[in-house]
Amino acid sequence: MKNYTTLRDISNLSELIKEGILLKMNPFEYSKLGQHKTLVMLFFNSSLRTRLSTEKAAKNLGMDVMILNVNDTWNLEFEDGTIMNANTSEHIKEAAQVISQYADMIAVRAFPTLKHKTKDESEFILNNFKKYATVPIINMESATAHPLQALADAITISELTEKKTPKVVLSWGPHPKALPQAVANSFVEMMLYLDVDLTITHPKGYDLNPEITKNVTINYNQEDALKDADFVYVKNWSSYNNYGDILSHDSNWMMTKTKLGAAKFMHCLPVRRNVVVEDTVLDSDQSVVIQQANNRTYAAQVVLKQLLENL
Ligand code: CP
Repeated sequence: MKNYTTLRDISNLSELIKEGILLKMNPFEYSKLGQHKTLVMLFFNSSLRTRLSTEKAAKNLGMDVMILNVNDTWNLEFEDGTIMNANTSEHIKEAAQVISQYADMIAVRAFPTLKHKTKDESEFILNNFKKYATVPIINMESATAHPLQALADAITISELTEKKTPKVVLSWGPHPKALPQAVANSFVEMMLYLDVDLTITHPKGYDLNPEITKNVTINYNQEDALKDADFVYVKNWSSYNNYGDILSHDSNWMMTKTKLGAAKFMHCLPVRRNVVVEDTVLDSDQSVVIQQANNRTYAAQVVLKQLLENL
């Protein structure tokens, strides 16, 4: 692996999942692999899980970690040829090359604007780091994708499934704020690589990018979609077609114990209780959200390990 910016950077997914599960059993097996190597983590946006699990993963491999909240540094310019006489103080060309001298790999979290679809879809922040940095780049959630989360989700389903081909339902949930499509996109992409029977359910108008959902079954009737589900992954996202808009606050889409049936409940967290999902689900044995969050460490660790092996 040379970079981990999309799921397409994975060459052998089943091996990666197996290795992630093995690392979970023996997290310090490769504790010398990352000695004298430094991971720089850049956050354009908030994080709890990604920040701590990736740092833990790097430390399990013996790496040093430096973290920069980008809001604390100079405003970065990403456009080529700009006359920088306004709010931006440093160009990505210099910044990425400078950070590359301090780092053996760079991890970036940069959410979408949810206003400028073309710009978001160009992944201008992540791809400019990829263009100008001289070390591997890791996506810690970009405008359109969250591949570390999706790998942790795949590990979780692999650990828990009792069926060869489980039924997995991705269900939209209500939320007061407009959220990115990144988690949903990467979850769908990941499920398409696995042996699962995937259904997506959401209110009309919330269709994800059809280049990602391809020919996945989309059912606008949530109750119908949830029938016989083994795993239910609930996530809010804002409209893709009416880009960034909230089209519905319909609380009927909240996940309840009754709707969940016998399925396992999944969510990437953070989650708004009694808005996205009711307490009785999150507080039940059917919720695997804490296991998912734990698996973020081993997903990150297996990615860092492969990147270190290719330095
Ligand atoms: N799931 C996830 O990425 O969590 P954070 O936003 O807290 O990192």
